[in-house]
Amino acid sequence: VDVDPSAYEHGAGDGRPRMYTEILEQPESVDRTLRGRLDERFGTAHLGGLDLDARELRAIRRVKILGCGSAYYVGQMGALLVEELARIPADAEAASEFRYRNPIIEPDTLYVAVSQSGETIDTLLAVEEIKRKGGRVIGLVNVVGSAVARACDGGIYLHAGPEIAVASTKALTTMYVGFALLALQLGRVRDLSVADGKRLVAGLQKLPAQIGQVLATEDRIAELAATLARSESMFFVGRVRGFPVAREGAQKFKEISYRHAEAYQMSELKHGPLALISPDVPTVAIVPDDELTDRNVAALHEIAARGGPLVVVTHAGVDLGALEVERIDVPKNETELDPLLLTVPLQLLAYHAALVLGHDVDKPRNLAKSVTVE
Ligand code: AGP
Repeated sequence: VDVDPSAYEHGAGDGRPRMYTEILEQPESVDRTLRGRLDERFGTAHLGGLDLDARELRAIRRVKILGCGSAYYVGQMGALLVEELARIPADAEAASEFRYRNPIIEPDTLYVAVSQSGETIDTLLAVEEIKRKGGRVIGLVNVVGSAVARACDGGIYLHAGPEIAVASTKALTTMYVGFALLALQLGRVRDLSVADGKRLVAGLQKLPAQIGQVLATEDRIAELAATLARSESMFFVGRVRGFPVAREGAQKFKEISYRHAEAYQMSELKHGPLALISPDVPTVAIVPDDELTDRNVAALHEIAARGGPLVVVTHAGVDLGALEVERIDVPKNETELDPLLLTVPLQLLAYHAALVLGHDVDKPRNLAKSVTVE
């Protein structure tokens, strides 16, 4: 790991950690990612930087997303968006793994490299490997002119603004928006209806204000964070769209609180990890109001029956019956876009847990902002 803390400016100059400032900036940064890219009339997105015309977009048979750490988890969210909106098979893989096998590069696959810094060595080398084998790669990158951005054939700049804190927050939510725009454009040159396109455009436009609503619940989240911080070990669980959200939540939590936080698919709990559930091991569960709610609530009962404390990140419409849980309700958007809003409270949860534990949230031990050496 390349550790050079002196290279980064810590704190926003107002006594608040950079991470906190960056969490609060999200309504504005998401607004910037969207600016000038939505087409209300045709219910689509325009991403000039892709440099692909409608015929080329229609010829894409597969989408493969590559990134590291949190960028990889957002890539998993992005793959689901592409499959749902464009019905193109899509998946995400850790760039750090991809480049160590001998990947098959296909001419009708669109490769997408995701990186805040654009300097992550594993992501950069994955891009170079794809290009060497004749593949087409676009970037979802924040830092303009960075190495990954230059190596790609085109792409989408995130316009999140400078992200300094090691724990990534606003870059991730803008990456999610970048994927939603890409999936929308890919969908609208295929089978996504204009009505669905308009529904998603309206949903995207609502996101900045809704992120603001989540941020307004900070005091309640801080209370729950203080309780979670007492546990040495915990689970973050979710299903399908909720699983990468859980992965990202666990990543943020362990990165700055140094607590063991393990992400798991809700559906897989009964195949092993349920054995670990006890009153000492809390679970943070992602339970959106969607077609999987009933299955998720059934899994919550399994956890509660073993005395596992539960924090449930959910929507007001979800009825948890007699279950004793701490709940965090986030505003409902379109089902496909909900993961972004479910992610935001997990950032605050990690942040406040780290503060309670007295850690320097901007300088987590052993980590650097970008990993530029192998
Ligand atoms: C996120 O909180 C982490 N610090 C880390 O996983 C990060 O997302 C990863 O190293 C990728 O960085 P990049 O987006 O700059 O490529």
